[in-house]
This record gives sequence, C-alpha cells and structure tokens, in this order.
Amino acid sequence: MAHRIGIIGGDGIGPEVVAEALKVVRAAGVDVEEVAFDLGGARYLSEGVVLPDEELEAIRELDAVMLGAVGTPDVPPGVLERGLLLRLRFELDQYVNLRPFRAEPSALNDGVDMVVVRENTEGIYAGEGGFLRKGTPEEIATQGSVNTRHGVERCIRYAFDLANTRDAKHLTLVHKTNVLTFSGDLWQRTFDEVAADYPAVTTAYHHIDAACIYFVEDPGRYDVIVTDNLFGDILTDLGGAVSGGIGRAASGNLNPDRTGPSMFEPVHGSAPDIVGTGKADPRAAVISAAMMLQFLGEHDAAERVEKAVAASEGVTGTTTEIGDAIAERL
Ligand code: NAI
Ligand code: MG
Repeated sequence: MAHRIGIIGGDGIGPEVVAEALKVVRAAGVDVEEVAFDLGGARYLSEGVVLPDEELEAIRELDAVMLGAVGTPDVPPGVLERGLLLRLRFELDQYVNLRPFRAEPSALNDGVDMVVVRENTEGIYAGEGGFLRKGTPEEIATQGSVNTRHGVERCIRYAFDLANTRDAKHLTLVHKTNVLTFSGDLWQRTFDEVAADYPAVTTAYHHIDAACIYFVEDPGRYDVIVTDNLFGDILTDLGGAVSGGIGRAASGNLNPDRTGPSMFEPVHGSAPDIVGTGKADPRAAVISAAMMLQFLGEHDAAERVEKAVAASEGVTGTTTEIGDAIAERL
C-alpha cells in the first residue's frame, strides 16, 4: 500500500528542496501517494488564510507530512509560526521534536553523533499569557511556560526509549533547574522517576547555558538529550551549526502514539535570499525524508537514503544537481 504523504512545500526554497526529497524517496523505490497543500506566506498574502479547518482535517487522515519551510518577508511575525507550524504540531499532537546531528571529527572535537529530543507542544510556546493595558506606558506582557506532568513524562519516556536503543545508551536532561525552580523541578523529578525504569541508560544533567558551551567545545560527550520546547529550539540551531551547518539539519515532529500523522522538515527556513538561484542545499530535506521513511517502517529505504546522502558529501552544484547525485546513488 502506498504511503499517503501530505506535501507542504511552503515558501522560498521550501518547494525547491521538497521536490528533491521526493525525487530521492521515489528513487529509493518507496511507493508514495503525494497530496499537495498550498499553505504558507504566499497563500496568506493572496487569500488571507493560514490553515483552513477542512485542510487540517484532510491532513489528519494522512500517513505523514513533508514540509519545506514557510515564511515570506511581508507576513507579520507569528502569523505562520503560530497559525500553521505550531497549530499543526499541537493539533496533531506531535509532542516530540526529534533532531539528529552527526559530523565527522573536526579541529574542535572528536566527532558528533547526538539526537536532541525537544518537547514540542508545551513550555513557553503553548501560548499562555497576554497583555494588560496594551499600548500604554503601564503596559504589561506575560508569556507563561506550561509544563504538565503528562506532557513532560511522555517526552522524557520517548527519550529514554530512544537512548535504550543506541550503543552509548546515555541521556542528558538539559534545563535551568537552578532558576526555573517550578518547571525545572517537575522536569527533574519526572526524569529521575522515569530513569528507574531504564537501568541500562546512564544519565546526566546540564544547565542550558553550560550545554551551549559543551555543544561547541565537546559535543562528542552527548548521545541523547531531552529538553523543553524553548531550550530545544535554540540548542538545535547550535547543534546544526557545530555539525555540518544548516544545510544538513533535519527534523521530525513526531506523534509517537500515532494518533495523527508526524511531520518532517528541514530545520532551515525559506531562505528568501537564495530562492530561485539553485544555491539551496537539499540535503537537510532529504535527511528529513529519510527520518520519515524510518518512522513509516521503511527501514531499509531509510538507511539507503542516509548512505546515499553521506556518499554525496563533497558533491557541489545546484539544488537539482545535488538531488540527482543522491538519487543516482540509490
Ligand atoms: P533561513 O534558515 O531561511 O536562512 C538563514 C541563512 O541560511 C540564509 O543565509 C540562507 O540563505 C541560508 N540557508 C538556509 N537554508 C539553506 C539551504 N538549504 N542551503 C543553503 N543555504 C541555506 O532563516 P531566516 O533567514 O532567519 O528566515 C527566513 C524565513 O524563513 C523567515 O520568514 C522565517 O520566519 C522563516 N523560517 C521558517 C522556518 C520553518 O518553516 N520551519 C524555520 C526558520 C525560519
Ligand atoms: Mg528554530
């Protein structure tokens, strides 16, 4: 049976890199039925809609979603981030944002092979807060961090399960428990309790600021990392920067319970500065597609795609030429 995949190319280089990712998926011999959605900044500017309810309901029925990137300079901040990206994550209960990083040894470190498990539906991104006396000199803005035992625990359990399957079997909790004494306490207590169920996994705790130093100076010390939504957002940009750059950083927004489709996307944005020039590296989108294949149970195809990307290292050229070079290696 063909996997039914929702395709949201989005804006800028989004459609360019997604086209190459799909080319590679087809070259890997995987049977996919593509269901295209015209969503993103361009649609918002022309029709004033971000994510119509009936399109969300259609997406709900799919096996997975492949997203390029959304965002155009003329759309005000928050419209697409909250209205499309966060809404999809929340509505489809994609509670894990999984971001793997791999890089050969460099001058700075002995090599990187780590995965960040970022909580994806709560924290300071949940939308709690508001304004009082907006626009006056006495204005107040609050933005609260929402942490539920249920939400924290399922994310931490996913991270322990993942660490348990890896050679190093090591999991680090990253937070700021010394200052965020309420949410940090909930995370730390939950982490310690769940750890008791995974005797084979060794654990560590780092404050977010210290983790930023280690990410740059000694990322080889990490295996799996679990952290909250905001810390994970920032830490994974840094992870991309220390392991091959934004052109390699891939991600999956996972619903591990499979009550809705998971969504796979490169970490980078729509890069309006290079759209149409052929300079967009499609590898981050291709690696995201490999993550999608892995999640859909196409383990053999996923591994072949990952190997083909690795074998294409050093190949330069346009977006299409790099996509072709990866597809040829399958
Ligand atoms: P960006 O990731 O689009 O670009 C940052 C820099 O990296 C640019 O110089 C760009 O040319 C380069 N770059 C990005 N992807 C590349 C690739 N595949 N190959 C080669 N170079 C690449 O981030 P920026 O400029 O902050 O945001 C641009 C737009 O994208 C904004 O509207 C932003 O809101 C949106 N955005 C969307 C995301 C998403 O859809 N998940 C994530 C991040 C940003
Ligand atoms: Mg980010």
